[in-house]
Amino acid sequence: MELLRVKDLGKHFGGLTAVDGLSFQLRPGEMLGLIGPNGAGKTTVFACLSGFLRPEQGEVLLEGQTLVGLAPNRICELGLARTFQIVRPFLNISVLDNVMVGALLREKSVARARALACEVLGFVGLGHLAQSPATGLPLPLRKRLELAKALATRPKVLLLDEVMAGLNPTEVDELIAFIRRINAQGVGILLIEHVMRGVMALASRVLVINYGQLIAQGTPQEVVGNQEVIEAYLGRGLKHA
Ligand SMILES: Nc1ncnc2c1ncn2[C@@H]1O[C@H](COP(=O)(O)OP(=O)(O)O)[C@@H](O)[C@H]1O
Ligand SMILES: [Mg+2]
Repeated sequence: MELLRVKDLGKHFGGLTAVDGLSFQLRPGEMLGLIGPNGAGKTTVFACLSGFLRPEQGEVLLEGQTLVGLAPNRICELGLARTFQIVRPFLNISVLDNVMVGALLREKSVARARALACEVLGFVGLGHLAQSPATGLPLPLRKRLELAKALATRPKVLLLDEVMAGLNPTEVDELIAFIRRINAQGVGILLIEHVMRGVMALASRVLVINYGQLIAQGTPQEVVGNQEVIEAYLGRGLKHA
């Protein structure tokens, strides 16, 4: 069975169709890229999968169980976690406490949640900063913290929304290696990413959407050479292409 199955997903904002009949599957252990020009509907897809928005149309199944209509925390408990495009740690609390918020969803005892949070912080290389306030962290470390918060919920599926944006090439390489390690633990990953080097390095398959519709899919090499994909990016501006 697929890990995640999305069937005919649709989401409107007033008269605007942000996601338009989108279907795809994520297989166990797979890293799938989701790309498309700005405004294509990528983040809205994540919001629909993770329960932050309710789609008007379609189905989302995690290991066969339907997610549409469930609250975000319930969906997270079932094993689907997301990061946010805009990194938003709780700035006035410590790095450890930020990760505890995620860990407490999985572990009801505070002591066990703390142990889980510490383990995850070690895994992302932030162990030494556990007691520091989140507010002082530079962007690359805030991104790791965002990942740690999601990982502390022990996801089966992790949705990563532009986690490489704003990083320099060395930092991107570090994050690529790190996402590989997460995936090697058996976590299925759906990756929205404008940093094409990251998509090429990580995704075995890429979905391309434009105006909420799937316009192409294939290996990273196949989709970057696809004429319709090139035109979609040209038509919406090259800033992030
Ligand atoms: N909460 C919202 N209310 C109204 N329109 C929205 C909302 N969120 C996104 N949109 C619109 O939906 C479209 C898709 O947005 P989004 O999913 O953020 O695209 P992407 O992540 O691919 O850049 C855009 O036209 C955007 O302006
Ligand atoms: Mg987005």
